[in-house]
Amino acid sequence: MITEVRHIVPGDRDWPAFVTMLEAEGLPTEDLADPGQSFFVFQDVTGLAAFGGFVVLGEEGMIRSVVVGPGRKAAGIGSEVAAWLMARLKGEGAKRAWLLTTRAANFFERHGFDRADRAKAPLSIRRTREFTELCADTAVLMTRNLEG
Ligand SMILES: CC(C)(COP(=O)(O)OP(=O)(O)OC[C@H]1O[C@@H](n2cnc3c(N)ncnc32)[C@H](O)[C@@H]1OP(=O)(O)O)[C@@H](O)C(=O)NCCC(=O)NCCS
Repeated sequence: MITEVRHIVPGDRDWPAFVTMLEAEGLPTEDLADPGQSFFVFQDVTGLAAFGGFVVLGEEGMIRSVVVGPGRKAAGIGSEVAAWLMARLKGEGAKRAWLLTTRAANFFERHGFDRADRAKAPLSIRRTREFTELCADTAVLMTRNLEG
């Protein structure tokens, strides 16, 4: 169970572990320091468990960089992180969440996301670097409503 969540920025103690874990999973790191994004470290009683973040673009929220620590997967941590990020996005005014993933589509489907047509995504989402440059065309775009 996640016991502590902290906002992190480049240069923080936990930042190198975040980058290392993303690289190990083949997830983009080039744009982590781009403005407007928020990233968090998630801890449980045994220590560092996961990272994740988002950017809010008006009523659209883009979740990214959700990564559970080595040896910590399939124990419910990713589900807690996804739920926390969605609640936080909603709290910041987002009405809809989006994400791109190559390998975790089934995981996010279990968290209420549906696969979406890239061409039908709002312009704000289509303009993100993740969308335009960093996520392979094979990445699946997914979305879910945060209201209700
Ligand atoms: C995708 C990812 C975030 C999921 O995190 P996770 O902590 O493994 O996810 P959960 O444990 O919540 O759920 C995953 C599985 O464990 C199962 N599970 C959930 N709670 C469980 C528990 N308490 N005990 C055992 N299994 C559990 C779920 O049913 C699910 O089953 P599955 O094997 O059919 O997928 C993680 O695998 C990861 O870091 N992947 C690499 C990075 C990535 O692709 N990120 C997404 C891009 S943004």
